[in-house]
Amino acid sequence: MTPSNFLLGAFSLSILRCILLLFGVQATCVTVLEMRQEANATAPTNVTSKAGLAWPNGATVSLTQFEGTGRVTYMVRLYYTWSTYPIDNDIEFVPMFWGNRSISEWTNTAKRTLADMTPKVTAVLGMNEPELPSQANLFVDEGVELWKLYVELLRAQGYRLGSPGLSSSSAGKAWLQDFISSCNGCTVDFISLHWYGTNVTLFQKHVEDYYTTFQKPLWVTEWACEDYVHPENICTLQDIITFMNAMQTFLDGAGFVERYAWFGAQKNLTMVDSNNGIMDDNGVINDLGKQYINYTESVDEPIVTSLPTFTSGGLRSIPSVLLHMTSMIVLLSSVLSC
Ligand SMILES: *[C@@H]1O[C@H](CO)[C@@H](O)[C@H](O)[C@H]1NC(C)=O
Ligand SMILES: *[C@@H]1O[C@H](CO)[C@@H](O)[C@H](O)[C@H]1NC(C)=O
Ligand SMILES: *[C@@H]1O[C@H](CO)[C@@H](O)[C@H](O)[C@H]1NC(C)=O
Ligand SMILES: *[C@@H]1O[C@H](CO)[C@@H](O)[C@H](O)[C@H]1NC(C)=O
Ligand SMILES: *[C@@H]1O[C@H](CO)[C@@H](O)[C@H](O)[C@H]1NC(C)=O
Ligand SMILES: *[C@@H]1O[C@H](CO)[C@@H](O)[C@H](O)[C@H]1NC(C)=O
Repeated sequence: MTPSNFLLGAFSLSILRCILLLFGVQATCVTVLEMRQEANATAPTNVTSKAGLAWPNGATVSLTQFEGTGRVTYMVRLYYTWSTYPIDNDIEFVPMFWGNRSISEWTNTAKRTLADMTPKVTAVLGMNEPELPSQANLFVDEGVELWKLYVELLRAQGYRLGSPGLSSSSAGKAWLQDFISSCNGCTVDFISLHWYGTNVTLFQKHVEDYYTTFQKPLWVTEWACEDYVHPENICTLQDIITFMNAMQTFLDGAGFVERYAWFGAQKNLTMVDSNNGIMDDNGVINDLGKQYINYTESVDEPIVTSLPTFTSGGLRSIPSVLLHMTSMIVLLSSVLSC
């Protein structure tokens, strides 16, 4: 799922807001988090949370509220935006090379994003659902070519590389198997995959099958209680609460799973049933969101929901955000030489 639909559909309304907001960068780094963690009596000493945020909101919503304060500061470890555009935040950012149509974005901004954000960037994600016509829509040989041109070279610079992220269809798995066997000289450090459905057992089997097949750490970069194959299977809010809880317990406990990101960090959630939302329509974290970050009112400090303040990084300039959002204009690309 995502960017195309987000950027061209549901998110067109956000564009205006994005135009009004500069995306900035803070030069804090991961060690700051660790220091803060030690300073907090209520903070767990060795945090093992794998939770991340699939974040299509740009800066229109506070991401900081999902980091929470105090104990929950470390519950959300990273976020990605299906793009090279980070937002003003001090947790790890994971850029994505989305696919063909993000080539100009990549050549224009990836190098600078990496330069500005590292060490808050340690990994990069490959193409988004390349096997789906509605998403990156690539034949395997096209995917291999793009990977070699834009992704593989980052490994020599120390970034870990996440495979193209597949949907949970059998075509997705077959695409990735082909990709891995035909991408000579390519290195995939971890496998990125998506899963939508309602049955926890099937989800677990799918994840285990991916590990058995690929023998690499997994990042489940999109998942939610939503059955696209049998749309009559609607998850009630209670189903979603149970589903998230069961899967999060499983994913947290599975040694071969490194990270995961629930699909639902979006106000006025579209693409999946709105009950999957981890924020309300005003962009404020809701009870499901608190469950996701393991926030407990009685233990934790209040969550600050105000929008972040912006530093003038200049990186996410207004035109580039707009171009990314609309994907309509091809920029004159400077060659990525990072
Ligand atoms: C946290 O991890 C460090 C390094 O692995 C270890 O030395 C320390 O004992 C751990 N602390 C707790 C409370 O588990
Ligand atoms: C706990 O951490 C938060 C955010 O990291 C910080 O604002 C707060 O001052 C810390 N509390 C203590 C008691 O150190
Ligand atoms: C995607 O990129 C590949 C490799 O550059 C190219 O062969 C293909 O025509 C492109 N497909 C689309 C739909 O733009
Ligand atoms: C979930 O899938 C498993 C395995 O196919 C099946 O045995 C079980 O009945 C399913 N659960 C529900 C609630 O459909
Ligand atoms: C989102 O939901 C809120 C509350 O229902 C509503 O006021 C707002 O107009 C909605 N925004 C969009 C972009 O649909
Ligand atoms: C969630 O928080 C509770 C304390 O409120 C803690 O015991 C538990 O280990 C936490 N779960 C995870 C997965 O971090």
